[in-house]
Amino acid sequence: MSAIKHTQLLALDKRALANRFGSRAESYNAATPVQQVMGQCLLDRIRSEQPDGHVQEILEVGCGTGRLTRELKALFPSANITAIDISQEMIDYATKQVPGPDYLVMDAEEYLRSLDRRFDLIVSNATVQWFVDLEKVVASMRAGLTPGGFLALGTFAERTFCELADAFDCAYQKNRLAAQNHLVPMKSVGYLRQILPEAEVVEQDILAHFKDVRTFLQSIKNAGAVNSQSGQRSIPKAVLRDMLHYYEARYKEPGSRKIQATYHACFLFYRRPAG
Ligand SMILES: C[S@@+](CC[C@H](N)C(=O)[O-])C[C@H]1O[C@@H](n2cnc3c(N)ncnc32)[C@H](O)[C@@H]1O
Repeated sequence: MSAIKHTQLLALDKRALANRFGSRAESYNAATPVQQVMGQCLLDRIRSEQPDGHVQEILEVGCGTGRLTRELKALFPSANITAIDISQEMIDYATKQVPGPDYLVMDAEEYLRSLDRRFDLIVSNATVQWFVDLEKVVASMRAGLTPGGFLALGTFAERTFCELADAFDCAYQKNRLAAQNHLVPMKSVGYLRQILPEAEVVEQDILAHFKDVRTFLQSIKNAGAVNSQSGQRSIPKAVLRDMLHYYEARYKEPGSRKIQATYHACFLFYRRPAG
């Protein structure tokens, strides 16, 4: 594929991603308790890192509905917050819910590529797994910190939805079909360590429970977190049926009768040296 075609494809995917998240702006908060827990982990760490609150300029990348933005505003009431999201609807929602910050509707990868200012705190929760060139993004975030500035990044890593991946593999095998990946590809913790070797890396498996697999799949949809990459094939009916069966048989909790889903959260914390 030529470089130009590849760029066009990525642009289209990003537009699809923005539309998908945008269409979920109203349902997003209720559908994402795990992302909320991850945001709280970032906040706890930020709180303990900045005891005297000397933070003037804050950048939030992928602010979504503004749930974390609200907490940042409360924690640093006199700071200037710049909050970016690629979805106009998400920014409209955040603007209504949390007035005050400078909101930008923009591809944060582009924004960071041409960053001409510095921030005391850069925060991003549950967003960078959608980025095309995370290595460049993290390098720009690092360069965009003031001396002594702090980066707090939370994303999903490779064990996320491992039960679903396993159930799909088994279903494809049973149907003697070549396995397709229907999940958003997640970066490994090894890779995340590599792109910012000085960062402290914290991993946490967060288990969520759902009435059944269809409810779980619907919650992914309501969060806007389905794969929008071009070339995604639809799931053969028999594979879907066997996947649901296998998942419920293997990952139902004996006591609660609910199915389990793993969210593998990975946090990067980095402070730029002051000198
Ligand atoms: C899973 S939501 C997380 C929202 C929020 N940070 C939270 O903690 O709930 C991911 C957000 O990232 C945004 N996003 C994805 N790719 C982006 C990009 N390239 N630039 C800016 N925002 C992006 C989406 O529109 C969506 O609102």
